[in-house]
Amino acid sequence: MSHTPTPLIAGNWKMNGLGASLAEVTTLAESLKSEPAKARVAICPPATLIERAARIARGSAVEVGGQDCRAEAAGAYTGDVAAEMIADCGAGLVILGHSERRSGYGESDALVCAKVQAAIRAGLEPIVCVGETLEERRAGRAVSVVQSQVTLSLPDDLHDKRFSVAYEPVWAIGSGLTPSLAEIGEVHQAIRATLLARFGDAGGAVPILYGGSVKPANAAEILAVQDVGGALVGGASLKAADFLGIIRAL
Ligand code: 13P
Repeated sequence: MSHTPTPLIAGNWKMNGLGASLAEVTTLAESLKSEPAKARVAICPPATLIERAARIARGSAVEVGGQDCRAEAAGAYTGDVAAEMIADCGAGLVILGHSERRSGYGESDALVCAKVQAAIRAGLEPIVCVGETLEERRAGRAVSVVQSQVTLSLPDDLHDKRFSVAYEPVWAIGSGLTPSLAEIGEVHQAIRATLLARFGDAGGAVPILYGGSVKPANAAEILAVQDVGGALVGGASLKAADFLGIIRAL
């Protein structure tokens, strides 16, 4: 029984990056070769860059992931990308249920759950995002909202699969604001309890990442909070130097 999951620090580039940006992946890979990280490290570039990023990262400590996938395996879904296509590009992970997709595209917990199943079928490791809005936090509902999202976004058959949960308070994303360390700890412990109740001992081995305005300056204190098993980093993952500042904070 493991209660010390290997931390995961993942960079979500969102809709940022052209071919030239892949120099950051090269820099990251080279740095981790000379000084290995204490965490698994992943970059999730836009879909257009996954295959090239995976080629650069091959044989290095950098893993590559997608940012979303369609729940269906194939079909008439113009513009969408299937989990198997992401895996076929050389990625090993995929972010699912990011709040920018939940709010921007009306993605429900049930849809996120179907996408998680699609990712698992394709052999991808899902990073499943949850998080409350500012209104929900102000109403004292942060923990209950997040526990409900975790419960409904995860399928039952995950106990023997590798996946992680990312707690990203919606109001902390891209805002420069972060919850207090006590608030982060409270939500992460609630997520851990939910995972243990649902998946037994296996729920203790799931990394629970924190995301939302993580920077080199605040990474050490956030990563030291109990049950914080890594970070999902947006803006500060676009430059290798900043992202390395977060990775080295562990
Ligand atoms: P920022 O780190 O830019 O706040 O974004 C967090 C995020 O949404 C990562 O998925």
